[in-house]
Amino acid sequence: MEKLLVKGGNKLRGEVTISGAKNAAVAILPACLLVKGNCRIENLPDIKDVKLFLRILEQLNADVKYIDKNTVDIDCTNVDSYRPLGELTRKMRGSSYLMGALLGRFSNFIVDPPGGCDFGTRPIDQHIKAFKTLGADIDTSKGIIEGSAENLSGGNIFFDVITVGATINAMLAATTANGVTVIENAAKEPHIVDLANFLNNMGANIRGAGTDTIKIKGTKDLHGGTYTIIPDQIEAGTFMIAAAATRGDVVLKNVIPRHLEIISAKLIEAGVNISEGEDSVRVWVNDDTKFKHINFIAMPYPGFPTDMQPQITVALGLSKGTSIVTESIFENRFKYVDELTRMGANIKVEGNTAIIDGVSRYTGANISAPDLRAGAALVLAAMSAEGFSTVDDIRYIERGYEDFHLKLQGLGAQIELIETERDLRKFKLKIG
Ligand code: EPU
Repeated sequence: MEKLLVKGGNKLRGEVTISGAKNAAVAILPACLLVKGNCRIENLPDIKDVKLFLRILEQLNADVKYIDKNTVDIDCTNVDSYRPLGELTRKMRGSSYLMGALLGRFSNFIVDPPGGCDFGTRPIDQHIKAFKTLGADIDTSKGIIEGSAENLSGGNIFFDVITVGATINAMLAATTANGVTVIENAAKEPHIVDLANFLNNMGANIRGAGTDTIKIKGTKDLHGGTYTIIPDQIEAGTFMIAAAATRGDVVLKNVIPRHLEIISAKLIEAGVNISEGEDSVRVWVNDDTKFKHINFIAMPYPGFPTDMQPQITVALGLSKGTSIVTESIFENRFKYVDELTRMGANIKVEGNTAIIDGVSRYTGANISAPDLRAGAALVLAAMSAEGFSTVDDIRYIERGYEDFHLKLQGLGAQIELIETERDLRKFKLKIG
């Protein structure tokens, strides 16, 4: 089984190019189902979740052609099924968007419950509420989710909680529904705006994405076109914290600094230097800086992203004093703390709060990635630790980060993908 071997201690230095956004990609790929014609998607991240989604589309009879590593042509004209294969869709959360997209295309869907990272219960009641408001009947009684509508038509959807997934599903279903849909208390994440921009580019009429209220005038006339996915806010934030935690100096290219403002603000508060260019950000730490303790709450955008909570906790574990981190979105997103503790961190979790007493250093250990973002965070911990670490279960990391270890190597990290004990000995010998 593949794992990452890391020797900590190197300060990351140099430039890294950020890939397209995973969570925009997994919304835009099913949105292609609403379009009859060719959609050319550029800046598509080369990650496992995207490859899986393309397989799902192919299984539904879409024509999928890679132009290069990050550009794909998708033509869903011949798609003739609204029953994607459960063995594929159960592996990822984003597969839930097939419900909205297939409802919009066929007024019908039959899907298995979606998979994805395990942060406790992840209900879909708000998705179902949105579909019902648009006139669909939903049946979840057989262990699968079935939806059908005689006449999918616009309506007023008010979400009880701010939810990215249900906002996206409501947008997908409403895009081709008859009449006007208004979504209130909508999520405002950059990938919501990116999905709206993609759909508008293909002929949809969606206004207000990025605010609390999204208004959609349904139309069936969507046409093909070319669209470039935004850079990944979370990949960028992960590299910002990698630079900070290793006390390095890194320039991130192909980013939208506005999407990174809250991450930058928190890092500056902790004593990290940040300067912004038009589409780049430089992150560096002065030699004599000791990180200051800070508090934050993971919240919906524009708050501090829950998907950055494990990474910044790793950096705060090396700060002076006590930091308090509160997770307000998911009920169980601190599973990685046990692994970090084995590396010497001093963190106590009480319910949805982590109390972090900074230590002067981490020590290398054999650890496992519990999920995607926590896996990346543990790699950052390993890079800032003394000695060797191995990180298992990297399949989680590969779901969402393009060329993660190669990009880190490019910045001077001592990190290798290894498969066997022989690889491990070879690498340890190579770098001493
Ligand atoms: N919620 C409900 N009912 C629903 C839907 C959500 O109560 O019907 C609750 C959830 O339990 C949670 C909160 O609402 O407490 C927010 O969940 P949301 O729906 O926003 O999350 P999601 O759509 O399941 C997406 C991302 C996650 C990211 C969250 C929050 C994708 C594919 N996934 O999940 O990304 O953490 O939004 O920003 O876009 C990741 O990329 O590693 C990842 C986990």
